[in-house]
Amino acid sequence: MKIALIVDPLPQLKPYKDSSVAIMRAAQARGHTVHAIAREAISVRDGRVSAMASALSVRADDQDWFSAAPPSRHALNDFDAVLMRQDPPFDAEYVTATWLLERAESHGARVWNKPRAIRDHSEKVAIAEFPDFTPTTLITRDTAEIQAFIDELGDVILKPLDGMGGAGIFRIRHDDANRNAIIETLGADASRTLMVQRYLPQIAEGDKRVLLIGGEVMPYSLARIPKAGETRGNLAAGGRGVAMPLTAREREIAETLAPTLWARGLLIVGLDMIGGHLTEINVTSPTCMVEIRQQTGFDIPARVIDALENTCH
Ligand SMILES: Nc1ncnc2c1ncn2[C@@H]1O[C@H](COP(=O)(O)OP(=O)(O)O)[C@@H](O)[C@H]1O
Ligand SMILES: [Mg+2]
Repeated sequence: MKIALIVDPLPQLKPYKDSSVAIMRAAQARGHTVHAIAREAISVRDGRVSAMASALSVRADDQDWFSAAPPSRHALNDFDAVLMRQDPPFDAEYVTATWLLERAESHGARVWNKPRAIRDHSEKVAIAEFPDFTPTTLITRDTAEIQAFIDELGDVILKPLDGMGGAGIFRIRHDDANRNAIIETLGADASRTLMVQRYLPQIAEGDKRVLLIGGEVMPYSLARIPKAGETRGNLAAGGRGVAMPLTAREREIAETLAPTLWARGLLIVGLDMIGGHLTEINVTSPTCMVEIRQQTGFDIPARVIDALENTCH
């Protein structure tokens, strides 16, 4: 197969831990060819979608992990699979990329995750479809409603809807001296919608990343355990990743969501769970594959290639 990945600029990727790099290496090891596309390299001329793509040769050496051929223009339906693996921010340009990629699909390109599904799933708001599995959660820009929710629950997490890596996440107790200022600042004076959620003390045991690949539940999670004095478990916020088998509850949630999300064309999904509660559904560029493989030997990047091979037949 010819596989293309839409990724952040290659020199910015960290080969020792990056899931996209691991997928490229797994693809090449199976005898597939790998190309890299930058999001800004995608164009539509008179309805036909193409991109400047570089053929890659990837290596195990993290110090010198790729050689790239000079980029040349390819129709996106020249590839057997195109993997959209661009990091957020999920801004207007991200949405635009999904529109362009959807045009490519109409000419036969096979794009994963499906552009429409990426666009339809806010990584934060998507949990509202599965309220049986989430902690009590309010999504609103109404300050009075946020204040009443904090009074009712006493201890909450306040988050922006467009953050990642733990950015802009606050824990607020009802008697927090900065409570009003945090709500005003994060909500930009009630002009931005926020999420307020019951604070789950089980975060001390980790924010578990559970991966779904091609509708299959991966058997190990990566528990991201906050460092001392920190609320956020994100690896980007200094959290420590510990791989562990799924609990019965985590498996139940993952097995319930997997067929629904796969039917929408979400081939790689990263569920976040705290204490057996669903807190986030990551669909743009889910990660943690390398850490799980290092600690358990379970090869999730190879499962991604299996899923791509299966969809091609
Ligand atoms: N309901 C919650 N209870 C306790 N901690 C939470 C809760 N929601 C989020 N957190 C903390 O904030 C971190 C980031 O939250 P998350 O919703 O996954 O956003 P992000 O997109 O930044 O990863 C989590 O790893 C966890 O440490
Ligand atoms: Mg998260």
